[in-house]
Amino acid sequence: MDSDALGVVLVTGGAGFIGCALSSRLARRAERWVVLDNLHPQVHADRARPDALHPAAELVVGDVTDAAAWDDLLREVRPDTVLHLAAETGTAQSLYEATRHASVNVVGTTTMLDAFSRADRVPSRLVLSSSRAVYGEGEWQRDDGTVYRPGQRTHAQLERAQWDFEGARAIPSEAARTQPEPTSVYGATKLAQEHILAAWAGSHDVALTILRLQNVYGPGQSLTNSYTGIVSLFSRLARAGESIPVYEDGLITRDFVYIEDVVAAFDAALRTAATDAPVRFDIGSGTATTIQELATVIADFHRAPAPHLTGAFRDGDVRFAACDLGRTAAALPWVPEWDLARGVAGLQDWIAAQP
Ligand SMILES: NC(=O)c1ccc[n+]([C@@H]2O[C@H](COP(=O)([O-])OP(=O)(O)OC[C@H]3O[C@@H](n4cnc5c(N)ncnc54)[C@H](O)[C@@H]3O)[C@@H](O)[C@H]2O)c1
Repeated sequence: MDSDALGVVLVTGGAGFIGCALSSRLARRAERWVVLDNLHPQVHADRARPDALHPAAELVVGDVTDAAAWDDLLREVRPDTVLHLAAETGTAQSLYEATRHASVNVVGTTTMLDAFSRADRVPSRLVLSSSRAVYGEGEWQRDDGTVYRPGQRTHAQLERAQWDFEGARAIPSEAARTQPEPTSVYGATKLAQEHILAAWAGSHDVALTILRLQNVYGPGQSLTNSYTGIVSLFSRLARAGESIPVYEDGLITRDFVYIEDVVAAFDAALRTAATDAPVRFDIGSGTATTIQELATVIADFHRAPAPHLTGAFRDGDVRFAACDLGRTAAALPWVPEWDLARGVAGLQDWIAAQP
């Protein structure tokens, strides 16, 4: 196989936002690009094959928690590389639909691994699409310089409108340094996926790459799934000429990374030599952006009224999530290329072209 060829690639959840974008860049380089996806109704309102899925992709409609579906698939497909994307992804939703998230994200992952054992097919490479949600609030630094993990903001604290951890400021997360401490069930299931795959890959000599993605946005993101995609949601409001409502004091902070940069990061990870130990990379823009700033960029683009603060909050929302890309950039042939203004413009153009 030449260094550019990908062999047989299996992508779980490969008909979703990130999976379709990956197919458009990578499917042609694969001997086969096979997608296992149940076309989840919350993501695929029409339950149809997405137009954005590359024509070379073979779509198998099935559920990652269904052992029989896996056995049928692996009788016919012998994957060299597995990109594991299938997941329930509702961070807030996971607090009241915990079992659904655990079933797909945790049991779906172990069901996949058991199927590889039954089929006697161990892929040589596994890539997990993990999340910054594993960090929870991450690390903060007090005024006296000491670093600590503040844990979770309580409901009572948020009701008092005490948004920050007083006398401290957040530090961008970094996989080699920041201890994970999820504050959502979703984040806990993504961390469980990491641990399960690391344990399994280690004892089967499988190269495992874990990409901890920050907030991904861009063309192809669902405009109808109200549980994900704040950039899409804000864009819809501003396009309709409405003022965007912003939670808390507007200073919740995220790292918004454009889909093209995420696809390039997967590509870079696949081009990087396999190692024995699992590797974890933070994938983001490297820039911390407040929600107020994001809302303003989008409102300005559409000449919509200025965003307004509501003081509302959501339990389980972390105050600050951004990453330090130093180690990722040193280890992968990759740096993000899209800044927020250009990415937001790219998304608006795509939205405008939608039926
Ligand atoms: N989009 C982001 O900002 C972001 C950030 C961090 C991590 N991630 C991770 O990246 C991965 C892909 O996210 P996305 O944004 O493309 O989400 P998405 O919802 O667009 O895609 C997920 C895909 O998985 C499929 N799926 C869901 N449950 C399934 C099941 N039981 N069996 C088979 N397929 C199933 C869905 O139909 C969908 O096509 C997920 O693992 C998510 O946790 C995404």
